[in-house]
Amino acid sequence: MKTRLLSAISIRTAGISALLFMAAALALLVLIGGFSRLQLITISVINLLLSFSIIYIVSSVIHNRRLREIKRVIKNIANKKFGEYETVSDFQRDELDQILLQSIRASNLIEKEIKRLNKIENYRKEFIGDISHELKTPIFAIQGFIETLLNGAVHDEEVNEVFLKKAMRNVNRLIYLTKDLMEISKLETGEMKSNVQEMYLRDVILDVVESLQYKAQKEHVEIVVKSFDKNMQVRADRNQIKQVLVNLIENAIKYNREGGVVEIGVNQSRKKDKVWLYIKDTGIGIEKNDLTRVTERFFRVDKSRSREKGGTGLGLSIVKHIIEAHGEALKIESEPEQGSTFSFTLTKVSHVSV
Ligand SMILES: Nc1ncnc2c1ncn2[C@@H]1O[C@H](COP(=O)(O)OP(=O)(O)OP(=O)(O)O)[C@@H](O)[C@H]1O
Ligand SMILES: [Mg+2]
Repeated sequence: MKTRLLSAISIRTAGISALLFMAAALALLVLIGGFSRLQLITISVINLLLSFSIIYIVSSVIHNRRLREIKRVIKNIANKKFGEYETVSDFQRDELDQILLQSIRASNLIEKEIKRLNKIENYRKEFIGDISHELKTPIFAIQGFIETLLNGAVHDEEVNEVFLKKAMRNVNRLIYLTKDLMEISKLETGEMKSNVQEMYLRDVILDVVESLQYKAQKEHVEIVVKSFDKNMQVRADRNQIKQVLVNLIENAIKYNREGGVVEIGVNQSRKKDKVWLYIKDTGIGIEKNDLTRVTERFFRVDKSRSREKGGTGLGLSIVKHIIEAHGEALKIESEPEQGSTFSFTLTKVSHVSV
């Protein structure tokens, strides 16, 4: 295949060039004059054969390397091998250069696409594994309680209600889990569209704090909102930012200590149009090694403690997704036994200083 293609190109190039060269030489000899017809024919034939051979060899050498390279690239694509090819400059001498360049570009593109698809595939596998693992715990717990009740405990006045309540708690866990899973899958597939609007930041914060006041009181934790310009407006999706605040403040309450404090405030960022919103707690804190992992799906530092509080380990990954979708930044600082501060940026509508 290679030889046939190579000789066809080179024969055509050499044939045309040799014929032109022969015609020019013949015309020159006729002009000079003094040659017999036999001499003219002999010189022309020798001229034709010689120039054809030289041009054919030169042309083969020039084309051969690039044809071999094109063949290598295409063969590699077929074998799903995507080597690093020498960077080819955009300068193209002829069609062969163009084809070579295009095949290398195609190879790079296919490599990227395969990597992207593999990542999605791994993500799916991991996601399904995580979900089944997380579902198993409450389902088996419910099964256990119901089995015990059916085996006679239902008639025991002392335990029947306790078991039913425990089963109900696990049903609630399943409900939270499915709700969070649906939300995260919508965020990760980009199905959840943001509805960006202007809003008064203070109103949003106070709204969320009010809805969590009951939880805080139950845990004996105080929520303090630091004062800042009540006219400050930010541009974001109201419901999503509320969700971020709910998840972060809920964590700050959940992982706090008895009598602890949750402080919420706003600081001006170095960038003129951005502010940092922070949620600071006086709780158990997070070890340095776990800091980068807390936003991973289903990650919980202390699984038993978090589960006992109804945690699924999805709250912070939802937070991270929403903040990334807004093009904003998330910062987590923590000191074990001292407390943690979760902050994220928001974009101000006008340049009001804090
Ligand atoms: N403010 C905090 N202080 C200490 N640890 C925290 C804090 N916030 C989160 N964590 C740790 O990070 C883990 C992940 O948090 P995340 O909010 O994603 O899950 P969760 O609270 O366990 O469950 P969910 O929010 O889905 O109900 C928690 O289990 C906890 O170990
Ligand atoms: Mg949480």
